[in-house]
Amino acid sequence: MYRAIYAALLRRLPPEAAHRAGFWLIRAAAAVPGVALALRRTLAPRDPALRVRALGLDFPGPLGLAAGFDKDGEGVVGLAALGFGFVEVGTVTARPQPGNPKPRMFRFPAERALVNRMGFNNHGAAALAFRLRSLRSRGGHRPIVGVNIGKTKVVPEDGAIADYEASARLVADVADYVVVNVSSPNTPGLRDLQSVDKLRPLLSAVRAALDEASPRRRVPLLVKIAPDLADADIDAVADLALDLGLDGIIATNTTISRDGLGDSAAVAAAGPGGLSGAPLRERSLSVLRRLHTRAGGRLVLIAAGGIATPGDAYDRLTAGATLLQAYTAFIYEGPFWPGRVQRGLAARMRAAEPV
Ligand SMILES: Cc1cc2nc3c(=O)[nH]c(=O)nc-3n(C[C@H](O)[C@H](O)[C@H](O)COP(=O)(O)O)c2cc1C
Repeated sequence: MYRAIYAALLRRLPPEAAHRAGFWLIRAAAAVPGVALALRRTLAPRDPALRVRALGLDFPGPLGLAAGFDKDGEGVVGLAALGFGFVEVGTVTARPQPGNPKPRMFRFPAERALVNRMGFNNHGAAALAFRLRSLRSRGGHRPIVGVNIGKTKVVPEDGAIADYEASARLVADVADYVVVNVSSPNTPGLRDLQSVDKLRPLLSAVRAALDEASPRRRVPLLVKIAPDLADADIDAVADLALDLGLDGIIATNTTISRDGLGDSAAVAAAGPGGLSGAPLRERSLSVLRRLHTRAGGRLVLIAAGGIATPGDAYDRLTAGATLLQAYTAFIYEGPFWPGRVQRGLAARMRAAEPV
């Protein structure tokens, strides 16, 4: 059914409008009394084989929604009801900002890929915290929600630490875990923060801000890295994460490479931005492998980048990932995709079990 709707309607809309329409439908459905519960009963992962205990949390399944889809935390209940084991909201910034001019999202359907330069369009960390707090106070089922924070565009590099700290303080008590995003290609200079000399003071400051704002519960802290880092830099980030007592690393964000896209005219027409989806799969997997070799079981590794099938999910878990995230495949495959992948993954895991 989704394929029919996609072919008839969503594909004809510009990608960002299609995203808004699809997301509105998910939220509208989840707002109808009983629907979120019915969806959850049908689609949410229930197989005990899928359960993951990590970051001090109990995940019903390893596959979560990657950051960027629900930047402002408006639809976490509906998204989890579709089968995601957790939802990462954001990227939010300390100040609200509009993001880059449109168009800023481009489809490459033949390659199952997207290019985007959204530029952290979001309502700000305070608005997100308010929304997540009211969700808590309403009671009822609340999925695991991670919060991804980034730098406000107009803040200069020497104000970056204070800007991240401000976001961390605002979201500390509503985030099940926090991610420092230093890897989006669409905020000028952001990825430079991945160098260890800049990353060390940034992550230390965010850790301290979280501890101060949430003295009774230690909020798990992760960093999200780009697939374009050189091998030595990947090792350096892993060493730093261990040294600072970080909880984990998300590998990876989108790439600035255009390898794997066939239509060079469409590539040129899209312009700059981050590439996601199937062309990212091999690179993200190799970054994951490198992190696992370096850090072994001492960090929680969350794999993202080109995960589209139960086989992809299984490969990441066997390469050392504890949890998984996806965005682009959800766009192409539709609302029943997360539940389908979790079920397929459970079958793969059972088939691999020694009898
Ligand atoms: C339209 C779009 C917006 C994104 N926005 C963010 C973001 O705000 N913060 C972030 O950390 N990652 C963002 N990402 C990256 C995804 O979270 C993910 O790391 C990446 O797309 C690779 O996964 P995928 O191949 O399954 O899409 C975005 C991706 C897309 C396609």
